[in-house]
Amino acid sequence: MTHPAILSHIQTQPLLRARAAGQHRVEVSPDLGLTTVEVVTESAGVRFPNGELLRWEAIEEINSSENNCFVIEDSEPRKIQLFSEFTNRLYSLMPTRAAPTMLVSGIPMHRIKGTDPYRDTLEKIKTVKPVVGYVLDTATGLGYTAIEAAKTADHVVTIELDPTALEIARLNPWSRALFDNPTITQRIGDSYDMIEEFGDQTFTRIIHDPPAFRLAGHLYSGKFYAELHRVLRRGGRLFHYVGNPESKSGGSITRGVMRRLREAGFSRVARRPRAFGVVAFR
Ligand SMILES: C[S@@+](CC[C@H](N)C(=O)[O-])C[C@H]1O[C@@H](n2cnc3c(N)ncnc32)[C@H](O)[C@@H]1O
Repeated sequence: MTHPAILSHIQTQPLLRARAAGQHRVEVSPDLGLTTVEVVTESAGVRFPNGELLRWEAIEEINSSENNCFVIEDSEPRKIQLFSEFTNRLYSLMPTRAAPTMLVSGIPMHRIKGTDPYRDTLEKIKTVKPVVGYVLDTATGLGYTAIEAAKTADHVVTIELDPTALEIARLNPWSRALFDNPTITQRIGDSYDMIEEFGDQTFTRIIHDPPAFRLAGHLYSGKFYAELHRVLRRGGRLFHYVGNPESKSGGSITRGVMRRLREAGFSRVARRPRAFGVVAFR
């Protein structure tokens, strides 16, 4: 299957430099840095290997937008941005030098200060290594934790509340394995309710990477933690993203999370500050 080009200002900068230098051929990534192709500069724009011409005006439009990625459809750029009727929030894909993040009403879904969404994902996964067996990922987002877990696990079940988030993920080249990898099963719904469908001790690992506490308090509740404990196999491990432990709210939320996890039956509940979360065992 061929994918449309997905570009941000990071990919358009070398194109504009090539035009200024009078360079005829230039390498550009059509998928936010994953691969490169050679394009030809013409007076009207750049010509991609598939014959598509992207006009200089379109390239300048993309280049002037720091916080957005664009999909090229019929040679025209369209901002990757959608309004969710479901949550009344605006979702968009924001470029970084590595994997993009998703902005939800302007708030990045991954850590980007001093790190990038891909390194952020590796830190989360590292806390519950080896990631083996049957894995539950309670909050799909762009699918990065599910994709990384699926590299070593037998199977990953990932749950997303908002279909709009998945529409953004579908356009993200870094999320492709979420849709292509048969090791991953996607479910749509509220993890709080859906967890009841899983049998006792179904999962060997759980990755719980919910929205901030103030946006999804029920995913930080003792009742939900008791369900996480019930579906986790004996000897299984949980990673729970909480947020910056050094921020004022992060510190107190972390203490409450750890207390409720212990009350729900988890043992060896410990902070993992590099991953902005905690781990716990059953
Ligand atoms: C921090 S992001 C997850 C990032 C993801 N782990 C990744 O690697 O890209 C949180 C996601 O959870 C979704 N979400 C919010 N409430 C949810 C719920 N109750 N059940 C399942 N997903 C939920 C949000 O729409 C958002 O996409």
